[in-house]
Amino acid sequence: MDNTDKHRAGRNKTVTISDIELSMFGERLVTLSDGRCVQVEDIIDRTLHGDMTELLPRLPATFADLIFIDPPYNLTRNFNGMKFRSSSEEEYIAYLRFWFPKVVACLKPNGSLYICGDWRSTSALQTVMRENLTVINRITWQREKGRGALRNWKNAMEDIWFGVNNEKEYYFNTDAVKQKRRVIAPYRKDGAPKDWITSDNGKYRLTYPSNLWDDISIPYWSMPENTDHPTQKPEKLLAKLILASCPPDGIVFDPFLGSGTTSVVAKKLGRHYIGIETSELYCCLAEKRLAQADSDKTIQGYTDGVFWERNTANLQRYNTKKR
Ligand SMILES: C[S@@+](CC[C@H](N)C(=O)[O-])C[C@H]1O[C@@H](n2cnc3c(N)ncnc32)[C@H](O)[C@@H]1O
Repeated sequence: MDNTDKHRAGRNKTVTISDIELSMFGERLVTLSDGRCVQVEDIIDRTLHGDMTELLPRLPATFADLIFIDPPYNLTRNFNGMKFRSSSEEEYIAYLRFWFPKVVACLKPNGSLYICGDWRSTSALQTVMRENLTVINRITWQREKGRGALRNWKNAMEDIWFGVNNEKEYYFNTDAVKQKRRVIAPYRKDGAPKDWITSDNGKYRLTYPSNLWDDISIPYWSMPENTDHPTQKPEKLLAKLILASCPPDGIVFDPFLGSGTTSVVAKKLGRHYIGIETSELYCCLAEKRLAQADSDKTIQGYTDGVFWERNTANLQRYNTKKR
């Protein structure tokens, strides 16, 4: 199980777990092995190790301000021994229907829920979300990376469906998720810049975020957030959702926690978190990343309170040095 053994290049920053760390971080996990029901105080800021379908009925109702769901997509994949098999759309919908209402039961009346999928599973996600919540939007994330195909377009996108319990009352802070973009054609009105500012290294505009996200890369080996989890989400993606849809000090819940991205970003941004994951190795990776977040709150691509476009690391460093 020790995943430190792989040979890795010198600049490789992938987070790994030694056998010693596995037992050390393993002690921090909550297992609920005694079959009891719990209160929020028992599980806040913790990682629950187990099967979410078994644990969900033992959690309190309506505790989460924000729920992020990144389930196995309708693809054959091995999550550290947990094998998920692709099936027909009907079977995948039945799989979602089995647990989705139980997850929704954890959402506050004014809370928000996001669920991810690829083009194959997206209509199933929409179907099941509509049965349980009001759909507010569908975000498409252009991931950049995708496997080339000889007889098809390569897949380089994912959808994130956004739903709420109450469309008249839900938390949404658009100012917290504005994007810093370079201005290509600076427009002036009466000689003064119209909605843009000049800094030493260019002209910029803070823009309202849209539902097409093209500024986020998949974690890769030279990024400190990277792990060996096969479908890890980027911290920047979670940062947008959490800042927009969870008030400071609120609770973010992720029932398919994987390598811990949701909990780690919640912690970095001053929110509480609760996560469930079936693989002990991934739970321990989450705990290691949470421990690292005690001393390092940086989120790649989110600096000075704004989201930057892709490939602007030099500009971000420049701006940070100038301050
Ligand atoms: C798509 S991945 C989530 C990745 C995560 N967002 C991250 O950034 O690392 C789905 C995760 O759900 C876990 N999983 C699948 N079925 C589960 C279940 N019934 N209960 C708990 N976890 C489960 C898998 O082990 C896998 O790590």
